[in-house]
Amino acid sequence: MKKIVVGISGASGIPLAIRLLTVLRTVNEAETHLVMTRGAELTAREETRLSLEEIRALADVYHERDRIGASIASGSFRSDGMIVVPCSMKTLAGIACGYSDNLLLRAADVMLKERRKLILVVRETPISAIHLRNMLTLTEMGAVILPPVMTYYHSPHTIEDMEQQVVGKMLDMLGIKNECYHRWNGNGCE
Ligand SMILES: Cc1cc2nc3c(=O)[nH]c(=O)nc-3n(C[C@H](O)[C@H](O)[C@H](O)COP(=O)(O)O)c2cc1C
Repeated sequence: MKKIVVGISGASGIPLAIRLLTVLRTVNEAETHLVMTRGAELTAREETRLSLEEIRALADVYHERDRIGASIASGSFRSDGMIVVPCSMKTLAGIACGYSDNLLLRAADVMLKERRKLILVVRETPISAIHLRNMLTLTEMGAVILPPVMTYYHSPHTIEDMEQQVVGKMLDMLGIKNECYHRWNGNGCE
């Protein structure tokens, strides 16, 4: 069983985090450790009908963001990677600078120092030079910048079709087997 840390920060795209956690429950291949920023709680109120308790319950383990002594704050806690979804520009900057003043930032810092997988589903538009520099800094350190961009080649009909496609990409990057999205086979989509 893999251990995956899921961080939710205060960018738009809370339904993506909900969908990812939901799929991770069903594939039963990973134990999920969830941490949410205060910004995430505010955006969640705007973007989903689920309560914070319902979101937290999607994870196997929920960590309070102020508990800097939590397991995921330590490199000695074995984990197989972390995904921040959605990743705000503030959280991106905090990770790029190593400014770990909440548990999400500290857990991401641990991924970098331990050379583990770190995937950042960054969400902002348009993107400033500061944002681009922070993304480049983190890419050069081995993190994966995975913006939730729209795709059309699989003929989506609904927002959920689009979400499923990008969540499939996230799962691929995490190394979790999944059949939840359409793959290009050279001629069309499977
Ligand atoms: C409804 C809503 C949507 C937001 N969307 C974004 C966004 O897409 N990207 C972003 O960088 N910040 C966005 N913000 C601003 C962040 O929430 C804000 O900068 C916050 O301080 C981020 O803190 P955090 O990274 O600790 O969660 C949004 C705020 C609200 C209320």
